[in-house]
Amino acid sequence: MKRFAFALAATVVLALVSALAGPALADPIIVKFSHVVSPDAPKGKAALLFKQLAEKYTDGKVTVEVYPNSSLYKDKEELEALQLGSVQLLAPSISKFGPLGVKEFDVFDLPFLMTDDVHARQMMASPMMGELNKKLEDKGVEPLAYWDNGAHVYTANVPLIMPDDFRGLKMRIQGSKVLDAVARELGAIPQIIAFGELYQSLQTGVADGEDNVPSNISTQKLYDVQKYLTVSHHGRLTYSLITNKKFWDGLPPDVRSGLDRAVKETTQFFDDTAAKDNVTAMDVIKASGKMQIHEQTATEKAAWIAKLMPVHKEMEKRFGKDFIDRIYKASGFVPPQS
Ligand code: LMR
Repeated sequence: MKRFAFALAATVVLALVSALAGPALADPIIVKFSHVVSPDAPKGKAALLFKQLAEKYTDGKVTVEVYPNSSLYKDKEELEALQLGSVQLLAPSISKFGPLGVKEFDVFDLPFLMTDDVHARQMMASPMMGELNKKLEDKGVEPLAYWDNGAHVYTANVPLIMPDDFRGLKMRIQGSKVLDAVARELGAIPQIIAFGELYQSLQTGVADGEDNVPSNISTQKLYDVQKYLTVSHHGRLTYSLITNKKFWDGLPPDVRSGLDRAVKETTQFFDDTAAKDNVTAMDVIKASGKMQIHEQTATEKAAWIAKLMPVHKEMEKRFGKDFIDRIYKASGFVPPQS
């Protein structure tokens, strides 16, 4: 009898404690954030910051799992995985959106379209982006932010001074059709290679060269497998932080507002970090002593621009002249007089 009274008292105490503690904690919502760069590249740092902020602003209702360095998916697979809902966040280069069936984003690879931070930011803040966002939404993909990671430089195992120097080189490109046309215009052989395979492909000679931002070149240690770098600033590396639309729309409102706040603050961080990291990266590359760096002269730059402007003309067939003109206007690009 005594034992029964004790058990009853213990049950009552337990019930009281759990009533006071409120409802049992639900399992956290898991957000998998997959990306292809190193954790110390700007995108890698931003992903880790997002994790911290998202978990804080949702009071632990969300757990973010970050998978860097293509450890979960490579370039093309990650987009498929997002559409299928196997991963919830990505921040791919917008030059890789072709396989989603949205070709318009390739337009941003038109050579010398957005060569500095001012033009890139003007473009990404333009109302035209709303029009393009709609195309992604139609594919079940919700763009949450655009992160501009700076201007591209070229690297190769031979010096790239004049456009003719590209002739016959196997150049690694991202998926964009415009980048394919650029390589062909230069007389090179374009090779689409996933970022996760870039180092090895340069090391083994599958590709002779590539273009990227300094922070990727330094964090991937491409200076170990490429001898020459030309500061050409012919293109831009822009990311879009994207999610699965159905997943995002289905989040409880309080979770959603916490994540929106985390996105906003992470975007601010990215904007403050990317340019600084590219400067530091150039110092790291120089300090490696393994790469010869070439700053273009005005004459060389003019020769590159003259060589590559026909790609703009050729791409009128793909995008329509009207669309390209609107992009020029939105980005502040003025085509050079021919
Ligand atoms: C590349 O493939 O070169 C870049 O898009 C990689 C990245 O995400 O920065």
